[in-house]
Amino acid sequence: MHPLPKDDSKAVYDEREFNRLDLQHEAVKLAFEGLNICSEQVDRVLDPLGGQKSVLDLGSGSGVWCIEMAERYPHATILGVDIEPQDRSNVPPNYLFEVWDVNSGLEKFYGRYDLVHTRFTTGVFSNPQAALIEMERCLKPGGLLIVISGGLLLSEDRKTMYPMYTRENPRGSWFQRSAMAMFLGIKKLGIDAQSFEREIDNGLWNHELLDPSSCAAALITVPIGPWPASPDAEEARRLQKLGEYWRDNALIVHRHWERLHEVSGRSRAEWKLTVRNVDEEVRQTRHRVAMRMRAIWGQARGVHSPLSTPSWPPTPSKPHGSFQIVSIHHSEDEWARMAQEHQATITSEMHSFLDVANFDALL
Ligand SMILES: C[S@@+](CC[C@H](N)C(=O)[O-])C[C@H]1O[C@@H](n2cnc3c(N)ncnc32)[C@H](O)[C@@H]1O
Repeated sequence: MHPLPKDDSKAVYDEREFNRLDLQHEAVKLAFEGLNICSEQVDRVLDPLGGQKSVLDLGSGSGVWCIEMAERYPHATILGVDIEPQDRSNVPPNYLFEVWDVNSGLEKFYGRYDLVHTRFTTGVFSNPQAALIEMERCLKPGGLLIVISGGLLLSEDRKTMYPMYTRENPRGSWFQRSAMAMFLGIKKLGIDAQSFEREIDNGLWNHELLDPSSCAAALITVPIGPWPASPDAEEARRLQKLGEYWRDNALIVHRHWERLHEVSGRSRAEWKLTVRNVDEEVRQTRHRVAMRMRAIWGQARGVHSPLSTPSWPPTPSKPHGSFQIVSIHHSEDEWARMAQEHQATITSEMHSFLDVANFDALL
């Protein structure tokens, strides 16, 4: 997960970044308990009894998701597209890759896919609302669209934003402060990352091309650091591993924000101070915090698919001991209310940080 404008992120998409994306993929699978958040639905749209199947992944990065999909569904052709070329060897024969700028339109993919997937591409689509409709046009009748957004801001529970460090509030989080500066940098570059998140807030229920009864959404909270406990030994191990993965990932992702801090107007000295404090805070798990990922999905209208029956989708919400990782929501109203409640916990300091030039300058 890492929303970055292309021209300002050159250094990011190198081999090390591909390795990080592969590692992050493992961390996502651990949270989803599988390759996909709605794996039963994916199994059904890619059922081999339905003949040859096709999958499109937009902004495929290192290609790791595509490759695993190709292995899991050998009868399906998986096409990854990314603006950056990719040169992986030993890939399955049913995995294809194409360099393509998703903002130059998706007409050539229209009507061809049983599954369209995009993950951690906030900030990639210049017009997220139009991009979702474009993705839907790529579906065959009954095909499934899955959009996964990575949240970089920290929450103290599933709906409350964690306070950021300021001179007034030295007990707040440096990482949270740094994430706010990164978002301001993105905004200053003319990219409206918030509009992608607003689309996620809305879910896909009102999309004309999709069948609303097939739509659902998931909130996925991943601990930053191995702090959550569980009375269940196996679950405790899983939470520990998950926390360690996401802690390490957060530390690497954070290093990528230097340029965006600069664009946001924070001084170089403040960036150095921030890196020192973020490293210390995250390594020591000083705050019991989590990141909120979200996923939305739905199926194209047009066939009487079993996925459109009232029993769809059968996946229950899963509480995990005292720390809930995944919850799945079928009600549009409930999903919208959760988004509003979360927005309402953004503190006035955070709003000021995004609006007032050099708010709370530390150096
Ligand atoms: C954070 S990575 C996510 C990679 C992958 N989806 C994953 O989950 O590991 C975002 C990807 O979007 C790609 N990207 C950025 N702008 C793009 C564009 N205009 N068209 C296609 N891909 C783009 C980047 O090159 C990068 O590989």
